[in-house]
Amino acid sequence: MTTHWTRMIAVAAGLWAAAPLSAETLEVTSPDGAITVKVSDDGGLATYAVSFEGQQVIAPSRLGMLFAEHHGFERGLAIAGSARASNDNTWEQPWGERRLVRDQHNELSVTFTASEGPARQMVVRFRAFDTGIGFRYELAEQPALTGDIAIVEELTQFGVGEKTTMWYTPSDEFNRNEYIYRIAPAGQVDDAHTPSTFRNEAGIHFAIHEAALVDYSSMSLDQLRPGNFQANLRNWAGGPKVKTAAPFTSPWRTVQIARDAVGLINSDIILNLNEPNKLGDVSWAKPGKYVGIWWAMHINDRTWASDKYHGATTAETKRYIDFAAEHGFAGVLVEGWNKGWDGDWFNNGDLFSFTEAYPDYDIEGLSKYAAAKGVQLIVHHETSANLTNYENQLEAGLDLVRKIGSHYVKSGYVSDAGDAVWVDDKGIRHYEYYDSQRMIDHHMTVIKAAAKRQIAMDTHEPVKDTGLRRTFPNWMSREGARGMEFNAWGSPPNPPSHEPMLAFTALLAGPFDYTPGIFDLRPNERPPVRPDMPRGDPKNRPQTTLAKQLATYVTIYSPLQMAADLPENYEARLDAFQFIKDVEADWEQSIALAGEVGQYVAIARQGRQSKEWFLGAVTDENPRDLSVPLSFLEKGKRYRAQIYRDGPDAHWDTNPYAIVIEEKIVTGGDTFTVWLAASGGVAVRFIPVAK
Ligand code: NOJ
Ligand code: CA
Repeated sequence: MTTHWTRMIAVAAGLWAAAPLSAETLEVTSPDGAITVKVSDDGGLATYAVSFEGQQVIAPSRLGMLFAEHHGFERGLAIAGSARASNDNTWEQPWGERRLVRDQHNELSVTFTASEGPARQMVVRFRAFDTGIGFRYELAEQPALTGDIAIVEELTQFGVGEKTTMWYTPSDEFNRNEYIYRIAPAGQVDDAHTPSTFRNEAGIHFAIHEAALVDYSSMSLDQLRPGNFQANLRNWAGGPKVKTAAPFTSPWRTVQIARDAVGLINSDIILNLNEPNKLGDVSWAKPGKYVGIWWAMHINDRTWASDKYHGATTAETKRYIDFAAEHGFAGVLVEGWNKGWDGDWFNNGDLFSFTEAYPDYDIEGLSKYAAAKGVQLIVHHETSANLTNYENQLEAGLDLVRKIGSHYVKSGYVSDAGDAVWVDDKGIRHYEYYDSQRMIDHHMTVIKAAAKRQIAMDTHEPVKDTGLRRTFPNWMSREGARGMEFNAWGSPPNPPSHEPMLAFTALLAGPFDYTPGIFDLRPNERPPVRPDMPRGDPKNRPQTTLAKQLATYVTIYSPLQMAADLPENYEARLDAFQFIKDVEADWEQSIALAGEVGQYVAIARQGRQSKEWFLGAVTDENPRDLSVPLSFLEKGKRYRAQIYRDGPDAHWDTNPYAIVIEEKIVTGGDTFTVWLAASGGVAVRFIPVAK
């Protein structure tokens, strides 16, 4: 304390330059003592460093930020005070990967004062959990920070090490987050989205991301020097990176840390660093499974446009409603129901209506038809990233959703990364990045307007998830990585490593509406339905076995989980379809059991309704023997394991449909061993056997 006071007096008296003080280092450790964060002001720079079990994870790295017209926090910084706190509580999620989440952490907040220019201070709050750390900037109201503030740079750095292996997607290319994951030594990566996942030379796994991205712009990683990334905040078109005013806080910068890759999945720090539920009772935002008029358009059987191949017709929607009701699906998504799809919709987002249906789609009649069968329509809002057109119709569009008795909207922002358009008061069009502050604000406006009407959102082409589902549990799912659609037209389609990669990368951010469950694994080899539109390249197809399609219902978490194929393709394989009917979309608990980034992953989840356990495992192009203890099952109980595994000669390319469906009696004392084919998988349902 004495040091702090001496420093504060020195700073206040302007003595800083005359009497340099010795550097101070503060430390905070995780409750289990494995993770240590060191914070220092050595040389007048604010820095932090992170270690795990005594080994370096983040080398000493800069903190700070620069403003356009105010003095920032860069040099001449000194630690002037600190405060500590600890927390250990358990909170309940309305839906999620687990019902109960424990938030146990130690906190250190450090006040830095700046000696050059007017007196000012910045607090950096650190939280150390057993599975990682988070920190954020907190700028209080103060005389040196009056008026509008423009953040032009956040100086946060992450010294990860040049030779550290990195799994990432590029952050500065046109297709937003929809890229095949790459692997490279960190020293060779120019720019990357978060979450980015790393394994350093000591074998420690970690992932850099952010939590609670509100009223700020999204952070990506830019290589500053080999092995050292700087936070790159997305800028406004022709403007600064963030427009704000004191007091403000940044999102949390997070580093999930674990010895093994699966430890990253078993971490809740992103959720724990978000504010509690602000919506209260969200029992209307029910997790569940859905089917929809969707894949038919992606494989060119049908059109979104209102021509003779229009998918969203009354008759076709009834067919899907009947199918959903017969097989126990809660929702039916209908794309192409509304005016605006005719012509070049990608470039004409201002033509979309969110209130007017095409004449061949009887929206009111269909909603009654669906309701009578216990099914809800999921209303689709494609915006083509025309924000103003959507914002102008938002209230009316959402009112219609409620009027027809639906609680669900799937939205979409198809456009190039820097082409989200909004029109100002003077009618001037501005093009923003999809992860800019303008977009972050847009999404928040939509989520709040939807919540007011008890509507849950599933956002495609979104900004990445940062755990906001805790605060706004109506933001149920997102896309935000390469989804199944790429297997219809992707060129190249998602590679066999994609699903085991997602588990350790994109899914660390939150739920992903991947739209799994394609049963016709060569859709582009069927005769074309539309003479005007040939099938796509036959190389575009799910590069998986059938069993792997089933397994992704467990390995890829989404509370809104689609069965994406056409009803007739499920009817042709009702035996395998049974797993999709049985698997839940909401979980009491989830445990990542085994895996390596991009190679394979095995996850067990306990259904929240049935309390039954499910196991899913997927592998990349390498076949492998998997062996996992069933110790998650309740001791002393016997279970009927319904197993859907790759047949002995299965292979994603040459023999994808070879599947064995069998039952075995198992207990928690058993080890489950199974062979996974090349790009194969296994899906298991465990039903307790009455004694
Ligand atoms: C891209 C979305 O990801 C996809 O699900 C949707 O069908 C199309 N946009 C059309 O809105
Ligand atoms: Ca998409």
